[in-house]
Amino acid sequence: MKIDTPKDHNHGALVIEGPCGNGLGERIASSLNHELCPARHKVFPDGESEVGIDADVKGKDVIIVQSTFPNQDKCLIELFIMAHDAKTNGARKITAVVPYLAYAREDKKYKVKSNAVSIDAILHLLSAAGVDALVTAAPHKTKPLASFSGEVSIADAIAPLIDLVKRDVKEPFVLAPDKGASEIAKQAAQILNCDYGVIGKQRDKITGEVSILNKPDVDIKGKNVVIVDDMIATGSTIAAAAQFARSRGAKSVVAAAVHLLLVKDAKERMKNAGISEIYGTNTIQCSIPKIADISASLSAACVKKNAIALR
Ligand code: R5P
Repeated sequence: MKIDTPKDHNHGALVIEGPCGNGLGERIASSLNHELCPARHKVFPDGESEVGIDADVKGKDVIIVQSTFPNQDKCLIELFIMAHDAKTNGARKITAVVPYLAYAREDKKYKVKSNAVSIDAILHLLSAAGVDALVTAAPHKTKPLASFSGEVSIADAIAPLIDLVKRDVKEPFVLAPDKGASEIAKQAAQILNCDYGVIGKQRDKITGEVSILNKPDVDIKGKNVVIVDDMIATGSTIAAAAQFARSRGAKSVVAAAVHLLLVKDAKERMKNAGISEIYGTNTIQCSIPKIADISASLSAACVKKNAIALR
């Protein structure tokens, strides 16, 4: 999809593909008709990154594309350094496109006597590094992003993800594995033209074990169930929902999530729970075959088209 670019984005705009850009920088540059410049990058023997921008950024709008997984902290530090480099060298406006934004799940205070929230710290550091605008996708919750000092745009990653599912899955039923995924489920059900249900989940804060609190009264017997979520990390949430779907007589169960972190034995865990296919997007590098490209949505969000409002 080719995106129309407003005039002020057309002059002297530059896309920097960060070391963790997963090829999205190149796609966004081509879609917005901007010049592409891969970031200079090497890792010193002690593990520190040498990263920077070789192009002349003076007076230009710069879009830096850097996802933040795997190795969240390193990817973030590289993003801060690239933004600082662009700002110091006179960039006019810096937009950070962070397809997967690490720490966005950590939006609550964990200690009783503290008000510190991790995502607030990350947003503050982005701003301090010179980032004027932030574009991301499926950030778990959108509200905490409102504490960023600049503009925030959320790209629609659900439409391309579910369009991919739609090609394969007939007679679907959409299941949200927890309340937080209910908006995603609603959108997915609209695209798939089917019903959806929402499970109530609880996670043990110590062991991480997921259990189901509320089982929705849904008729999924003989249906092909699509469990949707913003992300899959350990796969425990999807596995619990898949067991529920199987217990209600689902014909098949697949999982669709925007960010496939798939840590440790996530794939095995979901397979053992009856998941026959996993669908995801290219917000991070991943070896799953069913991957939807969300570069068109990210490009659109860069120019404030079709972006999802903060709630
Ligand atoms: C949390 O509420 C998120 O939306 C996901 O459900 C969760 O992060 C998935 O984690 P895991 O795969 O480890 O259960």
